[in-house]
Amino acid sequence: MRAHVVTFGCQMNEYDTHAIQSELAGEGYSFVDDFREADLVLVNTCAVRGKPVEKAQTLLGELRKEKRRRRGLTVGLMGCLAQLPEGRRMGKRLGVDIMLGPGAITEIVPAIRRGKFQSFEFKRELQFYTPPPPTGAVTAHLTIMRGCNHRCTYCVVPATRGPEVSRPVEDIINEARALKESGVFEVTLLGQNVNSYGMAPGTGARRALMPGYPSFAELLRMVGRVGIPRVRFVTSHPINFDDGIIEAIADTPAVCRYIHLPVQSGSNRVLKRMAREYTREFYLERVRRVRELLPDATISTDLIAGFPGETDEEFEETLSLYREAGYDLAYMFIYSEREGTPAAIHFTDVPRSVKVERLTRLIELSKEVSLERNRKWIGREVEVLIKGPAEEEGFVQGHTRGNQVALVKGSLAVGIHRVMVRQATPNRLYCSAADALDSLSVNHYVPSGLCQLTSNL
Ligand code: SAH
Ligand code: SF4
Ligand code: F3S
Repeated sequence: MRAHVVTFGCQMNEYDTHAIQSELAGEGYSFVDDFREADLVLVNTCAVRGKPVEKAQTLLGELRKEKRRRRGLTVGLMGCLAQLPEGRRMGKRLGVDIMLGPGAITEIVPAIRRGKFQSFEFKRELQFYTPPPPTGAVTAHLTIMRGCNHRCTYCVVPATRGPEVSRPVEDIINEARALKESGVFEVTLLGQNVNSYGMAPGTGARRALMPGYPSFAELLRMVGRVGIPRVRFVTSHPINFDDGIIEAIADTPAVCRYIHLPVQSGSNRVLKRMAREYTREFYLERVRRVRELLPDATISTDLIAGFPGETDEEFEETLSLYREAGYDLAYMFIYSEREGTPAAIHFTDVPRSVKVERLTRLIELSKEVSLERNRKWIGREVEVLIKGPAEEEGFVQGHTRGNQVALVKGSLAVGIHRVMVRQATPNRLYCSAADALDSLSVNHYVPSGLCQLTSNL
């Protein structure tokens, strides 16, 4: 039997896809790249913005046609979109056979045996589920907790993934050990807010730990001792990103000095309407502490342009925060109204042209700041995890401990290397082997703002 699994969305979905594929492999399935050759097609979906929802809809439409052509094809809708009323309507309309929410992925085997099945439960067994390590992976994900207790007014994730559930620390360490044995060079610990790992229900800065759970800072130190050369984590929520975590990063050599700290907006009024639970000042103080304790750290963020009611002045505050924080990298989005979220229910959307104009300005600024930041690395030696050949001929590609994309001249093997940074663009460091004295000659490759713009709308 042959299966084809499509994944949209974040790293948590990629991790879940691996878990689903492990279960299917145990049932004797092999995997094919073309859905026309598959007996079972599963679409693991994302609903965070309108665009991934449209993509899922288009694919499910194609699959409905394929089902008409070919009897015996089973189609499953899984993941965040499946959990929402919007997704369930879509699945029904497009003749989907199996629907499983992100909390019900462990039911995939009974589902395919029955052929028609749906479940939107958050199964307790998922908390104790450990997938086997993937084969031949250079980097791997490791979900340490699921769900989210926050209520950011624009966001569907609390509805799609339910409340926070932390996995037992022993399972996490065992999974990390298995990944080390399988030869991975880098593991990324995953959660919507990894900083609140092990904390009792609730939100806010001061939450007690549940009995038997270490804090996230302690967990970082523990995973750091497993022996995987690089440990990273996403995502941090500023309200729980405390000094203990920054100290754990500083003390643990395996933990990369890369911090993804989503801010969303630089305006206190907008942050309040988003229910982000912190102020601009609180956030910038966190960034100041990182710079103080980890001077070489790279910091990235997520930003939303054109949240409902955002004025020109409020948007200017996002631009000024951007400069002040000096981000190395940013993921920028225009606000996308999502059915059922408090923002969609209570607030009126900003006109699309205004949102697009603001996103364009944000992208321009990000390119300027990233170029400044990346240029500071010229002439310095950095560690790169090479993953394979780059699109640009004559280069191999990887990423630094700071998560910058690095292109290295020559043909280095997959793995960790020390290289010298020779040139920088807003989104690339061009490097050569550390002992090569020649400077590098490259055609600067700077994707146009438009490329990024279209992918973020
Ligand atoms: N848990 C993480 C991120 C979750 S979703 C956090 O708290 O930061 C990833 C990013 O998508 C968010 O940080 C936000 O910038 C963006 N996002 C979420 N909902 C959105 C929406 N309705 N419109 C536009 N961007 C959104
Ligand atoms: Fe969404 Fe906010 Fe939770 Fe992140 S913290 S997943 S943005 S509700
Ligand atoms: Fe998307 Fe769900 Fe991740 S909505 S961003 S796949 S948590």
